[in-house]
Amino acid sequence: MAEKADAFIFFGASGDLAYKQIFPALQLMIQNGTLDIPIVGVASNKWTVDDLRERARKSLEEHGGVNEEAFQKMSSLLQYVDGDYEDPTTFGALREVLGDAKVLVHYLAIPPSLFGVVVKGLADAKCNKDGSRVIIEKPFGHDLESARALDELLHRYFDEQYVYRIDHYLGKDPVENILYMRFSNPIFEPMWDRSHVHCVQITMAESFGVEDRASFYDSVGTIRDVFQNHLLAVLSNICMEPPSSSSSEAIRDSRAMLLKAVRPMTTADLVRGQYAGYQDIPGVKSGSTTETFFAARLWIDNWRWAGVPIFIRSGKNLPETCTEIRLRFRRPPQEIFNEVVPEASSHLRMRISPDVSIALGVRLKQPGEGMIGEDIELEIQEDAGKMMPPYERLLGDAIHGDDSLFSREDLVIAQWNVVDPILNDATPIYHYEKGTWGPDEANALIAESGSWLNPKVKHHK
Ligand code: BG6
Repeated sequence: MAEKADAFIFFGASGDLAYKQIFPALQLMIQNGTLDIPIVGVASNKWTVDDLRERARKSLEEHGGVNEEAFQKMSSLLQYVDGDYEDPTTFGALREVLGDAKVLVHYLAIPPSLFGVVVKGLADAKCNKDGSRVIIEKPFGHDLESARALDELLHRYFDEQYVYRIDHYLGKDPVENILYMRFSNPIFEPMWDRSHVHCVQITMAESFGVEDRASFYDSVGTIRDVFQNHLLAVLSNICMEPPSSSSSEAIRDSRAMLLKAVRPMTTADLVRGQYAGYQDIPGVKSGSTTETFFAARLWIDNWRWAGVPIFIRSGKNLPETCTEIRLRFRRPPQEIFNEVVPEASSHLRMRISPDVSIALGVRLKQPGEGMIGEDIELEIQEDAGKMMPPYERLLGDAIHGDDSLFSREDLVIAQWNVVDPILNDATPIYHYEKGTWGPDEANALIAESGSWLNPKVKHHK
């Protein structure tokens, strides 16, 4: 593990990501006693450090609340550098503010088009030495080729071991728990393969649209927004081989090995949808064919998973907001009790959000005379309120030099490899009504293996 950092710098201090995620994470870290190093915000809008403090307060008021004691401490750690990223004096000023600090964490909370100029500025000001690291956010490129070009650009100034790519799904407690549960309970291992699993389903449903970020979204679409990154990362935790240890490299090696075994998709494996009314949103290009929904079928070419279809879908304006994974187990080879056991009776369900739970679906005998069954779920609910927010975890890890939850170059390239053949308009776009589970064609995609198992979320009144 690399050395602990002695300063945290974030570019894009006046931006949206800082507002929604970075300030709340910093306050939590201070509250929990895990952050005590200088924090330097960089932006170019003629602010002073007081303006930055003011912005931080507003951010906290909206996202999680202000903890006065932690906020005062954060204010005292905050510094601010104003300047154009194209201008070398901005980086000179940053170096000066940093004083003797050597091991630096630079978080580029800025559009990817600015990554190049900022990493070069950092290198020219000698801010890339002594184990200093750079954190970047998705999108990591737009396709396989641009992802490679981005890596090449970053590696001119930072070695791969110092590039920390955030996929906040990997920082979610219940996503980590998939690994923990699998590899702490050997009882699961014998059933976690092609002889017992009929299919795997992952659903990431969102009941809201893209009205507040339409022009960004329209240039990206659901496949690039969540499939290439979050959902393939979740898949890697579900399907990877046991890592040889808990070290960062061992876990990332297992993850990469799995992703490299996922067969690149063909157009027959994909259904894309767009919700009715999307075209009318300001910011959406007229005649846009960007998807707001996809359903995909994947195959993993290895001994454990050969022949087991993996179904993944995600969309905006679906009936629920919920992310859930199901391993559907095989049906009994013979019906003994004169009834047809329903296809989904036997399953393991892992819910990531909104509530966090793990449930085992089983077929049990109804009380009474006959041998008549019913489907039961044995569910363990976890307290979602106790979970560590992903940005708190990931920023803390970056400061301490633990990169296990960050996406290594080969992982990102393997993810692009899977989706690259089906990007853009490789397949038709079908329309669906808001509040439905996407176009009917998505049901046809899964029909040979059964049907989609829709999450049922309990809504508290
Ligand atoms: C982001 C996507 O990366 O993840 C969004 O850009 C999506 O479109 C979000 O809504 C979902 O994250 P979470 O943590 O709210 O499930």
